[in-house]
Amino acid sequence: MKNFQNTIKKICCIGAGYVGGPTMAVIALNCPELEVHVVDISEERINKWNSKDLTKLPVYEKGLDKIIEKTRDINLFFSTNIDLAIEESQMIFISVNTPVKQSGIGAGQMSDLRYVESCTRRISDKAKGHTIVVEKSTLPVRTAETIKSILSCTNNEYEKTFSVLSNPEFLAEGTAINDLQNPDRVLIGGEDPDSISVLEKIYLNWVPNHKIIKTSLWSSELSKLASNAFLAQRISSINSISAFCEVSGADVNEVSQAIGKDQRIGPQFLKSGPGFGGSCFKKDILNLVYLCNYFGLKEVGDYWQGVININEWQQDRIYKIIVDKLFGNITGKKIAICGFAFKSGTNDTRESPAISVSKKLLSEGAFLKIHDPKVKISQIKKDLVGHSFIEDSSIIDKSIVQGSWTFSDDIFTTTQDVDAIVILTEWDDYKNVDWERISFHLRQPAWIFDTRGVLDSSIVKKYDFNYWKLGDGNQKN
Ligand code: UDX
Ligand code: ADP
Repeated sequence: MKNFQNTIKKICCIGAGYVGGPTMAVIALNCPELEVHVVDISEERINKWNSKDLTKLPVYEKGLDKIIEKTRDINLFFSTNIDLAIEESQMIFISVNTPVKQSGIGAGQMSDLRYVESCTRRISDKAKGHTIVVEKSTLPVRTAETIKSILSCTNNEYEKTFSVLSNPEFLAEGTAINDLQNPDRVLIGGEDPDSISVLEKIYLNWVPNHKIIKTSLWSSELSKLASNAFLAQRISSINSISAFCEVSGADVNEVSQAIGKDQRIGPQFLKSGPGFGGSCFKKDILNLVYLCNYFGLKEVGDYWQGVININEWQQDRIYKIIVDKLFGNITGKKIAICGFAFKSGTNDTRESPAISVSKKLLSEGAFLKIHDPKVKISQIKKDLVGHSFIEDSSIIDKSIVQGSWTFSDDIFTTTQDVDAIVILTEWDDYKNVDWERISFHLRQPAWIFDTRGVLDSSIVKKYDFNYWKLGDGNQKN
């Protein structure tokens, strides 16, 4: 084992998604002596990672294309040859998806570990010599135990031995490259000090020593769930206050600024909006709730469930306000949905508030004109499956448009003739657009529903539309 530390030359990551791809690209950039292989069962995804045209990478992150350009086919390789990568790597990161279970025990709450299990079995089968297996996906506490027990049943060919580490990823989408290059902390959980120090040595290439925290496996796994739960809790807290501001005449932005100045609280994650989305927050809290109930801590589970309940309530509340302001009837009305990603800076729509708000408006009979600068129409079709899509909105007869939607990547086409605009993602595109031009083509009396507080108050006063801003109790309308 002592020599192992110095001989680690090749690592691989199973799962070329939002976490695996950017994380390995940053490791490759900072560790030129390491050969980094990213493998995936999806040929389509790997082809995109290998695409010559860097605008076709499967993940949009600022700065990622530059890193791929510098490292790809030099010490960073993308392929579907999972078995070979496992055989040749001394360290394997598991970064596959862990969706919420859809059926059976724990359905709707527990993480579905089938992908983790299947790639662990493959590691168990194909690895040679000593292999460090690093848990990188967000997983429920004690998943490392499952990984260890699968690996312990391995055949004894090729003198296989394993050690398992937990190394949760804290990157946020949209700022992934900066988060990876300058992390607040790197957490390594494990039992075997030698394996911990091999992984630590990789990070020390660019992360200062004092930022590397070493814990037990279980503490590391729980820290990831608890971090996400704490962040989500702040958002639900400020969103609950946003509703209170609206009825009491206060402004949530002023309130959050005042709260955030308290050094004990701090300013981050106090921006009210249409609720948190993304692949982690809801899933991790649901996991926490499941585990609390499993261990008999019902009150603790109920406490965290409340964070999710407020999040769903916020989206429902916004939908009801839209219907109410449009005279209680949106059947056949045209509504522009500005922003479909769960936040700006990413093309990811997982758990995006735009999905639930859109579905509710569609079910009520509205015709939605959707715009997003980064999300592809193919993704929106998956998210709104069951609701009819209309290719060309200009030829639409009102009787067919009820409950259907169209898409345009041009904001002026999207907002032409609509009764209302709903801003759901805080893209700069919506701040900087020519609102005068938009205001000319709205169907009056038109409404702008600004759930992200994107518009400047000077714009609102200048042009001819009614304006509703989330959390602002001073509005006249
Ligand atoms: C999150 C965690 O931040 C990250 O550490 C973890 O590794 C993965 O989950 P991510 O989901 O990519 O990252 O994005 P994040 O910036 O945390 O935003 C999550 C959601 O909360 C978004 O929908 C965002 O719009 C919303 N949000 C965030 C707010 O509504 N208000 C805020 O003040 C901050
Ligand atoms: P995350 O946000 O956690 O990175 P993604 O869904 O973006 O999640 O990516 C997970 C990736 O893992 C997907 O590209 C999927 O094809 C891949 N994957 C899932 N199971 C396996 C497996 N058994 N072997 C290899 N890749 C897998």
